[in-house]
Amino acid sequence: MGSVTKVVLAYSGGVDTSVCIPYLKKECGVDEVITFAADLGQGDELEEIRIKAIDAGASHSLVGDLVQPFIEDFAFPAIRANALYEGKYPLSTALARPLIARELVKVAKQAGAEAVAHGCTGKGNDQVRFDVAIGSLAPELKILTPARQWSMSREETIAYGEKFGIPAPVSKKSPYSIDLNLLGRSIEAGNLEDPMVAPLEEVFAMTSSIDNAPDIAEDIEIQFEAGNPVAINGVKLDPVTLIKEANLLAGKHGFGRIDMIENRVVGIKSREIYETPGLLLLIRAHQELESLTLAADVLSMKSQLERKWADLVYQGLWFSPLKDALDAFIDNTQSCVNGLVRLKLFKGNATVIGRSSSNCSLYLSSLATYGSDDKFDHKAAEGFIYIWGLPARIWALVKDKRGV
Ligand code: ARG
Repeated sequence: MGSVTKVVLAYSGGVDTSVCIPYLKKECGVDEVITFAADLGQGDELEEIRIKAIDAGASHSLVGDLVQPFIEDFAFPAIRANALYEGKYPLSTALARPLIARELVKVAKQAGAEAVAHGCTGKGNDQVRFDVAIGSLAPELKILTPARQWSMSREETIAYGEKFGIPAPVSKKSPYSIDLNLLGRSIEAGNLEDPMVAPLEEVFAMTSSIDNAPDIAEDIEIQFEAGNPVAINGVKLDPVTLIKEANLLAGKHGFGRIDMIENRVVGIKSREIYETPGLLLLIRAHQELESLTLAADVLSMKSQLERKWADLVYQGLWFSPLKDALDAFIDNTQSCVNGLVRLKLFKGNATVIGRSSSNCSLYLSSLATYGSDDKFDHKAAEGFIYIWGLPARIWALVKDKRGV
């Protein structure tokens, strides 16, 4: 593999990424491992994680607060794109990966490292996202992936770590594999591997069950400017606070749970449970405002491109020419996505009950009304329909002649 003097490892504090530290030094011939742990609002104690990496043999242990760029540069574009992979998953995990990759590359350059490393296995999407993003930001950097090479079971990994002073996890191991950040949680494995088994209530942490959700509905209003959410219930909030508030409101009413069979990049179907209350609520509200403020043909084209945008982000192509081009289209449409959406939260639902835009609404009551002040020219419809339906009538005539 060619020897590497210095590597920057994406570090979470878990056993797997901790074991990567001695593994890189002993088995991959790396002299120095620098770790980088990202704060994405997952609520971890970062100082503890920082010290853990040093204890496991890292020469430097860095932590970076990425919450604000995560929301402003990754979550908000996803809201503007109404991004839902396979029509369902709002990419809460996927959106974090290009940001971590960008930061790893930055740290590697500052530290003069020739390589970066991550602890992803060979079967998931995250390895694809890291490797592709790193490759497009810094093709000259080597990427070391210990967990893709070692063929250790969970028990063997823990035993390997113990040899190097990495303590075995103290808490009883959860049967689930969980990824979390401020946008949501993804839960896999354990009994969820049977697609027919319903998730136990214990897997959820951000959303209330339908049973425990309040018996009284709550109406809320979300305000958007240029496609970005800016206020909830009339209170202007910075992006990070706004996402937190949306999480609390939607989560309290049990909205934002997803249970799906998902198609991974590596060809596997997997059963995924997500809870992404705030992000899903904001996408729903944003979609609604667009239906009021965007022209029909723009909406139609945008919905096709949104699907592609979500596919690209899911598949690790955040930093790619097509993604850039789609962003240009989407951003162009957003200058007129201003206004207010009203939703009713109740027992797992977020139902749109109103929308308005003072300067961008394309809804004209003078045309839509059934009342006496109707300004629509009903007679003009006749000529329009004559021409609109002409091809269908010609087709029917010819069909008759053929006797079919
Ligand atoms: N299936 C989701 C995705 O690909 C969640 C991945 C969770 N990642 C993890 N390392 N547990 O975005």
